[in-house]
Amino acid sequence: RIEQVRGRRVWDSRGRPTVEAEVRLRSGVRGRAIAPAGASTGTGEALDLRDGGTRFAGMDVGRACAAINEEISTALAGWDIADQQALDDRLIALDGTRERSRLGGNAMVATSMALLHARAAAHDRPLWRELAGERKVRMPLPEIQIFGGGAHAARRVDVQDFMIMCPAARSFTQALEWTAEVYLAAGALLKKAGTLQGVADEGGYWPAFSSNEQALDTLMQAILDAGLRPGEEVGISLDIAASEFGRNGRYELALEGRSLDSDGMIEMLGGWLERYPILSIEDPLAEDDPSGFRRFCEAHGARCQVIGDDFLVTNAGRVRAAAEAGSVNAVLVKPNQAGTLSEAHAALVTGKAAGFGTIVSARSGETEDVTIAHLAVGWNAGQLKVGSFSRSERMAKWNEVLRIEESLGSEAGFWGWDALPFRRA
Ligand code: PGA
Ligand code: ZN
Repeated sequence: RIEQVRGRRVWDSRGRPTVEAEVRLRSGVRGRAIAPAGASTGTGEALDLRDGGTRFAGMDVGRACAAINEEISTALAGWDIADQQALDDRLIALDGTRERSRLGGNAMVATSMALLHARAAAHDRPLWRELAGERKVRMPLPEIQIFGGGAHAARRVDVQDFMIMCPAARSFTQALEWTAEVYLAAGALLKKAGTLQGVADEGGYWPAFSSNEQALDTLMQAILDAGLRPGEEVGISLDIAASEFGRNGRYELALEGRSLDSDGMIEMLGGWLERYPILSIEDPLAEDDPSGFRRFCEAHGARCQVIGDDFLVTNAGRVRAAAEAGSVNAVLVKPNQAGTLSEAHAALVTGKAAGFGTIVSARSGETEDVTIAHLAVGWNAGQLKVGSFSRSERMAKWNEVLRIEESLGSEAGFWGWDALPFRRA
């Protein structure tokens, strides 16, 4: 049974305040977790409650922490830790708003995750096992950023994430080995070109490219320099995050000085799909352009994963509607977009039922918290996206999956190509 929940302010990877929740059970067992924060947020997300004013640029989380220490702690005290759904429902009812604006989505998700940690600790088993029970799980296919752009790098390039995926690797361990070689090779290429400028918010190299295609060409070269075969061993994955530069059917590509309509975007991205071994594209159109999504997915969904992030905001209802409309074939699952773990899980399960690819994802503002690594394994999601291959708030998650894989020994499978929602040519 729950004795108390405490909220405290800690700091994230951008040096901004964020919320940590700590659940204490009557037995003395504890569980804690930290809320992440996005920069390129979808309008339908659970609200990240901030204090406003001038302190820390208005981003302090005093109200969200107070909500945990007072209302949430009182409401959950004495409750059984066993039923996550009932506890999450209690949080949702207590908040009472659609956008989670009273308690704050950050207070709610930190609490929801801390409850799971306490339950796993009470059972003395790892978090992923608490979720999976006796079901067999496979290690997720990682989606790892090499160049960061968009809102995470002062919009130096329009595309937000230039990533790679290693579906032909034999194991998660080997996928990271290949990624490390590509990341090193990409850094060496930039250094030689004199354009190495540090790293962006998620640890990918800060881009100094004159076009989006130049980033793609450099990425191709890095894969080759790493001694790997593009397309067969290593594929490219992009998060366009088009809501950041598109609205009302117009897309303003600042880097290239171009303004496109939906069809222009679909044509440009289709051209990239022809020329580069792209396995996955996230938010190719803006969140207010469902017909663009539908046309894009109709044209390219048979050979490319089409992910909805800002478009679906980890909402089971939206996932169901998108499946009916055929506007995506994959869903990004970010617990803090939903507000509770139960809602995030419902979005994932709805996606799986529709035959979607499902990707558990971190945010651009992260911490040492590794809960999502366990969610990806325990929910058997198939894919995991946590940013790049540097900065320890990213590496902590990759390293945690390595430990899980090792603990399973020969039992540990790897999702590889099976994680992707299309058939290989
Ligand atoms: P965000 O970016 O956390 O800033 O929203 C991640 C993403 O768009 O996938
Ligand atoms: Zn995204």
